[in-house]
Amino acid sequence: VITRESCLERDRVDPLAGLREQFALPDGVIYLDGNSLGALPRSVDARLRDAVTEDWGRDLVLSWNTAGWIEMPQVVGDKIARLVGAGPGELMVTDSTSINLYKVLTAALRLQVGATRRTTVLSERDNFPTDLYIAASVARSHGMDLRLVDGDDVEQSLDESVAAVMLTQVNYRTGRLHDMDAITSAAHRVGALVVWDLAHSAGVVPVDLIAADADFAIGCGYKYLNGGPGAPAFVWVHPRHAAVASQPLSGWMGHDDPFAFMTEYRPAAGTARFQCGTPPILSLVALECGVDTVLAADPVGGMHALRAKSVALTTLLIELVDQLDDEFALTVATPRDPGRRGSQVSILHPSHGYEVKEALIARGVIGDFRQPDIIRFGLPPLYTRFVDVYDAVQHVRGVLELGEWRDERHRVRARVT
Ligand SMILES: Cc1ncc(COP(=O)(O)O)c(C=O)c1O
Repeated sequence: VITRESCLERDRVDPLAGLREQFALPDGVIYLDGNSLGALPRSVDARLRDAVTEDWGRDLVLSWNTAGWIEMPQVVGDKIARLVGAGPGELMVTDSTSINLYKVLTAALRLQVGATRRTTVLSERDNFPTDLYIAASVARSHGMDLRLVDGDDVEQSLDESVAAVMLTQVNYRTGRLHDMDAITSAAHRVGALVVWDLAHSAGVVPVDLIAADADFAIGCGYKYLNGGPGAPAFVWVHPRHAAVASQPLSGWMGHDDPFAFMTEYRPAAGTARFQCGTPPILSLVALECGVDTVLAADPVGGMHALRAKSVALTTLLIELVDQLDDEFALTVATPRDPGRRGSQVSILHPSHGYEVKEALIARGVIGDFRQPDIIRFGLPPLYTRFVDVYDAVQHVRGVLELGEWRDERHRVRARVT
């Protein structure tokens, strides 16, 4: 049996426990939704205040040079690059994940121009909707089809009709983790290019884009990178493509020399050409604080230590849910093999998942709900304690045992679930 005391002991001996101090988390809340919005790094407040009062307020437009604003997409990009196995200068922070997907998928299809037999973009049916919507639109504008298959069938669906494969490494709904190395090499064997969405992996799953020989990657700043609501996203392009790839949003910030104000567009060398317009500096300041909270794990083992703790946390949650009474009818939708899941555990409640999630929030346990029946618990190893997992599952038991989810007010659907 797993006891609360044994979880407290695991926290006491956890070499990563001190990293939680980096975050301002409210008392009385068990926050298990860092897969949607990462917690607030304590450093953000002062850094943003300086950026506002000194850089913007006092130094005004000069800050583009004196405060290094113009370099920030690259500086923060280089920090994220360290977390995903990319080299300096290969990864830029810019735009949103959706927009970056539009840019890189278009670039990938343009690289396949002339390969007339290639008529499809291949993706997973259960991919995140924005990825599917953008992929369908890009495929259509190249006269191609978006072909959707089950997550398990991606490799066997590859053939020479595929121009590009577009996958999210960790599924937003189930937390299932794709084998990036195997899928990338299988795709390359049939001549397809691969675009990886790292929204649910960057900062929590060790990723090695160069070792996997991926072609393009994009990802979110506001989840495990703790960059704040609507934080800018990132884009990575393999160096073999970066100097030849062309992206459709040819804005001035992707120009080789924006301040030459030339009439003709001339793309910057490398991934910098994937920028479009003026970077959102205040958001970049917050994102840099967030990325620094992940890099702070370096002295205690970095991404591999974070992954080990993440696996321990998700394993604990699954074990505790398994011990709950069968009559609660909960099922674990996340793969039980730790090598096949990211840092979240998804629980299926057959009929009232939304209400259960709301009743948990009323008890101070914050997870979220995804249609049609999934309650998600994200377990960022930077700030989640073993005892949080233990307590959360006791609250799940309480909500179900006492039928708290039946309360009228838990039925009211908010816009964001
Ligand atoms: C896999 C995946 N891609 C993309 C997004 C969101 O993209 P955007 O930041 O452009 O809204 C999400 C958001 O949860 C996501 O889970």
